[in-house]
Amino acid sequence: MTQQIKRTTRGLSRRTVLISALVALVLSIIMNGYFYSLEGARGLYVWHPLLALKVLLFMGLGPISLAIVALPLEKLAKKWAMRMVRWCSFIGSILVSVASIALLAFLIIVPRVGPLEPARLDLINPSQGIQSQEVQMEAGFSAGGVKDSATQSPEAEDAPGALSPLDRPLLRLSFSSDPHWGADTANATARTQVLEGIAASKPDAFFMLGDTVETGNSATQWNLALSDLEALIPNVPLRPILGNHDALFGGQYLYRKAFYPKDFSSDSGSPYYWSINTGSATIVAVDLPWGTEMFGARQKAWLEKTLAAADPRRPLIVVSHSYFYASGYDDPDFGTPWYDHYQNIPALVPLFEKYGVDLVISGHNHYQELLSHNGVTYAIVGSMGGLPDPEPSHHSPYSKWIDVGGHGWLDVSVLPGRLALTFRSETGEARQRATVGY
Ligand SMILES: [Fe+2]
Repeated sequence: MTQQIKRTTRGLSRRTVLISALVALVLSIIMNGYFYSLEGARGLYVWHPLLALKVLLFMGLGPISLAIVALPLEKLAKKWAMRMVRWCSFIGSILVSVASIALLAFLIIVPRVGPLEPARLDLINPSQGIQSQEVQMEAGFSAGGVKDSATQSPEAEDAPGALSPLDRPLLRLSFSSDPHWGADTANATARTQVLEGIAASKPDAFFMLGDTVETGNSATQWNLALSDLEALIPNVPLRPILGNHDALFGGQYLYRKAFYPKDFSSDSGSPYYWSINTGSATIVAVDLPWGTEMFGARQKAWLEKTLAAADPRRPLIVVSHSYFYASGYDDPDFGTPWYDHYQNIPALVPLFEKYGVDLVISGHNHYQELLSHNGVTYAIVGSMGGLPDPEPSHHSPYSKWIDVGGHGWLDVSVLPGRLALTFRSETGEARQRATVGY
């Protein structure tokens, strides 16, 4: 009885301190475990190594460490040191517990509070594939209203990849990436022009390769994107993929709600990576929001099986958000290299080369770039409105052409035996053309 009175009057008991520290540790493990389980969240830690993120990751260890440090201090004649450490541990436990619960609530609740307005879009269900519209080309590459003739120099008409009036594409595809709805720095006018140009050219499919929004957990930003897409390209078959910005802080929920309804399915079973066999091309999407954080054994095995099974008579096109070979720059804040991707290249390029991938199209870097290495052509199309990246300080040795500072999209026409690539400005002018044989 005397001992108990002493304990309560002099401070916290050992038991209280240890239990509260364990509760804080468990809560921080649950919060971090949930965050880490979200598609692409781990990439944030690698590419933006903020001190705050490291603190979140390890904060649960603080109170329990102090509680353990307090144990041998119990043997000292003077108890002030033990009491001080116990109080530090206890206060730390409260702070860690509150922060963990608040962050968990932030990650779960924020993406779900704002209603997502339903949009009338022609979304491509990966399990259903794409139908070619078998557009009858009128002349050159002006089908659907993109006026090349007004903008092309005579040299451009002879450029590699230019279509002749006799060419009849088997399939016409458009690609762009990184529109960043919701970013103050994005160019909304250019983004609208890109969508108007794509609507006018009526491709068989438009692939939007991620970073649809600036901050993935904001329903407001997704609503902005959906209302523009509905207004500008309601009848263009559309297939977006997930970018690192879309994935921020629980944004996967809104991505799926906006672009991958419950009745959609894919050959992989995942909404984030899948393959589409169009009959005249095989299109494979890989899930690389920042880099290889989601490229585990399951996705790798699926990719290898899919590439191996692809019809060698048809072009094999891979799309992703983060790139492989690319020019770029060192992140000014963290020094991370935003060029020739140090994770994606060793993990996936050997598979591309082994299985005869013809063309790889990605976003993430806000440039338009054409590259080629070991028989594989790479295109960067992060030019749909996001703030253009700075002049590259690193030039990829495999770069063939780059446009810095502009916006636009890429058209790919599937022709017998070749792919015709046209990088376009936001107003539809052909900036660069190339041919990829298959
Ligand atoms: Fe981006």
